[in-house]
Amino acid sequence: MRKGFGLPIVFCLFHLVISQKNCTTIRLPKGLKLGVGSAAFQIEGAWDAADKTPSIWDNFSRSSGVIKDGSNAQDSCKSYEYYKRDVAMVKYLGVDFYRFSISWPRVLPTGFPNKISKEGSEYYSNLIDELLANGIEPVVTMFHWDLPQRLQNLGGWANPLIADWFEDYADVLFDLYGDRVKTWITINEPRQMGLFGYGSNRFAPGINAHGIGEYLAAKNIVMANAKAWRLYDRKYRPKQNGTCSITIATDHREGITDSPDDIQAALDAMDFEVGLYSHPIFTKKGGFPDSVVRLVAEKSKEQGYLESRLPEFTEEEIEFVKGTSDFFGFNHYSTKFVSRKSYKPGMYPIPSHDDDLGAFGTLLDYTPAVVPHCTSIPWGARKALKWVKENCGNPDIMIIENGFGTHGGLQDNDRVTYLQSYLLEILDAVEKDQCNVVAYTVWSLMDNFEWDSGLRVKFGIFETNYDDEKKTRTPRASAFWYKNLAATKSLDCDFKPTFKNIQF
Ligand code: BGC
Repeated sequence: MRKGFGLPIVFCLFHLVISQKNCTTIRLPKGLKLGVGSAAFQIEGAWDAADKTPSIWDNFSRSSGVIKDGSNAQDSCKSYEYYKRDVAMVKYLGVDFYRFSISWPRVLPTGFPNKISKEGSEYYSNLIDELLANGIEPVVTMFHWDLPQRLQNLGGWANPLIADWFEDYADVLFDLYGDRVKTWITINEPRQMGLFGYGSNRFAPGINAHGIGEYLAAKNIVMANAKAWRLYDRKYRPKQNGTCSITIATDHREGITDSPDDIQAALDAMDFEVGLYSHPIFTKKGGFPDSVVRLVAEKSKEQGYLESRLPEFTEEEIEFVKGTSDFFGFNHYSTKFVSRKSYKPGMYPIPSHDDDLGAFGTLLDYTPAVVPHCTSIPWGARKALKWVKENCGNPDIMIIENGFGTHGGLQDNDRVTYLQSYLLEILDAVEKDQCNVVAYTVWSLMDNFEWDSGLRVKFGIFETNYDDEKKTRTPRASAFWYKNLAATKSLDCDFKPTFKNIQF
């Protein structure tokens, strides 16, 4: 595996600890890069600008009735129109990189490379140039869920041919932007997109083929990542010299008690939720994790299927997929406590991924956050990083997402507390567990369209004013906190943000 992003971390200089956990000032590890993230569909708006065709999220958000506040992303943050303002915000923070994504149907309106949109491709080229001109490194996600509807009409991520379609799309992006982009993320969070989009109807495309769709998507996503990575490695890396990997939602799963049964349930849950995507890529054995193969096969048999609902990899595919990463893209929000005892058949649809796992997850007595999937359980981040170290061959880890959702307000002390306590645990993972964390990214630069929660749930360290024609942004307390972190390269737990009257 190649070395990923940035310089290797020097551990020895790492800690100027004045006091731990109740910290006053802790220096960040030397070489740890800081960034902030967004995704095309969530911020761009301009859903039909120039020759762009609809993505599955354009259609789903306008017609499924699933978006909780009834909003859509037609305008969203208007980043397509005002991208220079986004760059100015990142610059104001003083962080090293900006992680954004490219909309597939904006660059390839047919989904295929027979037609490259001039205006669509120039938009990203200009954004990259603007970032570089301001000393900000672009970290680019090729696919953050907004599949061209035309490819969905052909089966989308349930069709194995998508691995080739994705490779062609990646070829276009490497060719257009690889001279300037040195860190690529192929696909964002395969689990969320496959499970919620193909195994349920919570996310686009809303296929709801539970117990089947999410597994087809899992295999095809892993194959698509492998094809794109191999293409980069063979054709582009020699001249462009960058890195490329998938990013996986790596929330932690803990046994509800220390009983061997509950501990096993938690390990199996990690296999189902993370290992399904990481095991084929990051382990020596390759293929899906044994526990998932066994449990899905057993349940499929009981349910009268002639074969397991989990697709198999051929020997050739196993070899092809192994090692197709330069770092581990790690997205982390929270932890759940799992047990098999409190699981009852019928609790979940049959068949389904959750039923195959056969365990029940809860937040125990943690108070759920406004957005329950970011309930603050900071120590889970350290455990999840350790899981990656131990189960994925001790890779370089880029933390690609970590953030906190609220219902708004500029004085977002709860977000600051969340980010601060997660960072403390991440720093412990680096120092005490020797996890190779090379980058940390706050989700998100600004409030944006939060998928099925619409515009009501806010993840931004900048507030977006959706009532304003220009969607003006104002820094929250967390933006001043992050700016201070970037400037001092130190975590100052006593830092009190002073609001400056500034807007973008
Ligand atoms: C996704 C983001 C999303 C964030 C907060 C992640 O699952 O990659 O697009 O906004 O979580 O829910």
